[in-house]
Amino acid sequence: MSATDYLLENRKAEAAQRFAALSALFDPGTLRQLDACGMAAGWRCWEVGSGGSALVRVIAARVGGAGHVLATDIDASWTREAGASNVEVRQHDVALDAPPGEGFDLVHARLVLVHVPERERAFRHMVSALKPGGWLVIEDADPALQPLSCIDPYGPEQELANRVRQGLRTLLSGRGADLSFGRKLPRMFRDHGMTEIAAEAYFPIARPECAPLEIATIAMIRGDLLDHGIVTGEEIERHLENVRAGVLDLSQPPMISVRGRKPR
Ligand SMILES: C[S@@+](CC[C@H](N)C(=O)[O-])C[C@H]1O[C@@H](n2cnc3c(N)ncnc32)[C@H](O)[C@@H]1O
Repeated sequence: MSATDYLLENRKAEAAQRFAALSALFDPGTLRQLDACGMAAGWRCWEVGSGGSALVRVIAARVGGAGHVLATDIDASWTREAGASNVEVRQHDVALDAPPGEGFDLVHARLVLVHVPERERAFRHMVSALKPGGWLVIEDADPALQPLSCIDPYGPEQELANRVRQGLRTLLSGRGADLSFGRKLPRMFRDHGMTEIAAEAYFPIARPECAPLEIATIAMIRGDLLDHGIVTGEEIERHLENVRAGVLDLSQPPMISVRGRKPR
């Protein structure tokens, strides 16, 4: 059993498109964080809830042959495409399973803890896997801070988009996601005695990658949206047509990125 009753399961076919869009949107910001930690050749890294393979490949290239990346996920099928000699992919639940090692220079998780009801335990596992002086980087959305899909809801298309997004939030909350989790991260780092804490938020508005992300997400939750009577099939089709026609300025919730160091 997993600690996560994860809504957007990786076994769904559209997960690959979703991971590609997440990488395109968020990898540049993530790499900026990892660079700020001083990620370098030879580092041992644990990528938690890795999802796709793109970010894992980039980290593996940065740490090189003398370094190592352990990429884990409750369903690591898409991560296995990373396929570099210094990458090890494992199925692992960050909250339920014991940490998969210790002495890591870097532990990173993006858009994972928000979905994990046992997030406090998962956080402790990640800190315990770090070497003294190692870096923890956690990035999570805070949809309650900015809940809209279209922040300028000037017409029926935008209002429908926002209703669909509200539906996604309802479904996520029902599965134990904390939709105001991102803002709590700096406090969590402080409470665990982390040092050199720094946090920032990134808020995509009308980026082209938001359209494939929306299309893949809606395809993955279509059944749940209908079962819960949140929208009708006709409304979903209309919304997808609007997305494909490019008439919506789609945004994503703020991504809050926090880094901090385990005391020496
Ligand atoms: C929204 S995706 C994010 C994927 C990737 N980190 C990214 O930002 O592109 C969330 C990922 O966390 C994984 N996940 C959910 N609960 C987990 C848990 N308890 N332990 C490990 N991974 C988990 C999911 O399987 C999924 O791959």
